[in-house]
Amino acid sequence: MSELKKEIHKRRTFAIISHPDAGKTTLTEKLLLFGGAIHVAGAVKSNKIKKSATSDWMEIEKQRGISVATSVMGFEYNDHKINILDTPGHQDFAEDTYRTLTAVDSVIIVVDSAKGVEAQTRKLMEVCRMRHTPVMIFLNKMDRDGKDPFELLDELEDELKINVCPLSWPIDSGQRFKGVYNIFEKRLDLYTPSKQTITESVGLKDINSPDLEKYIGGSLASKLRGDIELIEEVYPHLDIDTYLKGEVAPVFFGSALNNFGVKELLDCFIQIAPYPRPVEAIERVVNPEEETFSGFIFKIHANMDPNHRSCIAFVKICSGKFERNVNYKHVRLNRMLKFSSPTAFMAQKKETVDEAYAGDIVGLPDTGNFKIGDTLTAGENLHFKGLPSFSPEMFKYIENADPMKSKQLQKGIDQLMDEGVAQLFTNQFNGRKIIGTVGQLQFEVIEYRLLHEYGAQCRWEPISLFKACWIESDNADQLADFKKRKSQYMAKDKDGRDVFLADSNYVLMMAQQDFKDIKFHFTSEF
Ligand code: G4P
Repeated sequence: MSELKKEIHKRRTFAIISHPDAGKTTLTEKLLLFGGAIHVAGAVKSNKIKKSATSDWMEIEKQRGISVATSVMGFEYNDHKINILDTPGHQDFAEDTYRTLTAVDSVIIVVDSAKGVEAQTRKLMEVCRMRHTPVMIFLNKMDRDGKDPFELLDELEDELKINVCPLSWPIDSGQRFKGVYNIFEKRLDLYTPSKQTITESVGLKDINSPDLEKYIGGSLASKLRGDIELIEEVYPHLDIDTYLKGEVAPVFFGSALNNFGVKELLDCFIQIAPYPRPVEAIERVVNPEEETFSGFIFKIHANMDPNHRSCIAFVKICSGKFERNVNYKHVRLNRMLKFSSPTAFMAQKKETVDEAYAGDIVGLPDTGNFKIGDTLTAGENLHFKGLPSFSPEMFKYIENADPMKSKQLQKGIDQLMDEGVAQLFTNQFNGRKIIGTVGQLQFEVIEYRLLHEYGAQCRWEPISLFKACWIESDNADQLADFKKRKSQYMAKDKDGRDVFLADSNYVLMMAQQDFKDIKFHFTSEF
């Protein structure tokens, strides 16, 4: 195998997603401990946004600012290079998470075993499903009284719409939690509450051995045997290809806080999770093992200090090897650029790197050259697909509150949208600009940044909208008719695509009924 191929096959780039409080930060920290990337628990502050600060977004931004270093956490483990991409904990920044999911090769979902599947997880899973991203599920907090494990599996299948395959099985829960039977490795792992040590695995491999009783007692032993028999009947054996297609999710039970079940998850993860996968560009499919470099920008992290209008553009390397001080083509600008201080994120330190491989994420200091979705290559004109916009949940008209500063406002809005802070739609009927977001905080961020970075003042005006739908049709006449009839509700997105702004679910349903040849999409790529 060539050096390049070896490096690429070592890489596992993934994100951990969960509903706030399910244990994402705790799990991340434990994974980093295994990689030797950190030495003490409690070191990861991550993107975790404190609950107390939800209404104070400056505080949130400060925390986000600090979290640049934890945007990507790389470490080595058992001859693998692991890249964890962090996602914001606050749901108002869910769009950042959607975009981060375009840069990962797989996902670990953390679910609180007492709460089951929660709203945010359901939504993020939709994005994974759309992209056929392989997912593994960690059912956390088994040290607390939770739902029945069979019930939890049913809930995962129903709510996340994916088949599951348990690879470990809990023995009781809450205060009586004894441990798990590790189905994947066929061994009994006993639980001792402790925040820093690793799982105690006893030598027992065969659960039919009478020794099982010695470890967990008679009634739990027979229950475990019964459970495992049932699992073998009901759930399929793990088929790695099906997992890689995103059709079945392996499930582990454990307790991140007590570092129980985490190493098992990680060990299985490095065995079965995919190394970088081929990425589709408009022109062709790009294979990670190609010699020449290519990558795309999936995230831009702005510096909140107005005196330093610099940001970091995060590139996911899709193929080949990236090198410092080598000229690469910025395809949209049709310009060669070279980067003297690209950074990678090992452990929690940001370090300048000389080279990085497909699967890795590199941070490029930037002063405004990049937009979300931009492609960098060794020379080829490629445009990577797969960075869709999703219909926002909240909409407001944005108006200029200081007539002397309209140019600044325009520039500010354009740049913030390029950075992916929110989405801009321009109403075709009256030319008014509408900003769409996932949550209220984004409006506050925009207003603050327009004022402090661009000296512009904006004013928000209400508009009541249900969804933004990207429309398409093979029937040109019907499309033209629709656009004419709905002209007051037609807008263009930032790339000039037609968007129908439906003001209610009912209006949308009626439109779908009346215009059967038109397809209405809630994402910009279909
Ligand atoms: P998040 O990033 O998904 O939002 O969750 P985070 O890891 O911060 O965990 C949320 C809370 O759940 C934390 O408690 C954490 O200690 C706790 N937790 C995580 N894993 C487990 C587990 O396996 N068992 C139990 N019992 N609790 C767990 P907190 O009190 O909100 O925060 P902290 O003060 O402990 O940091």
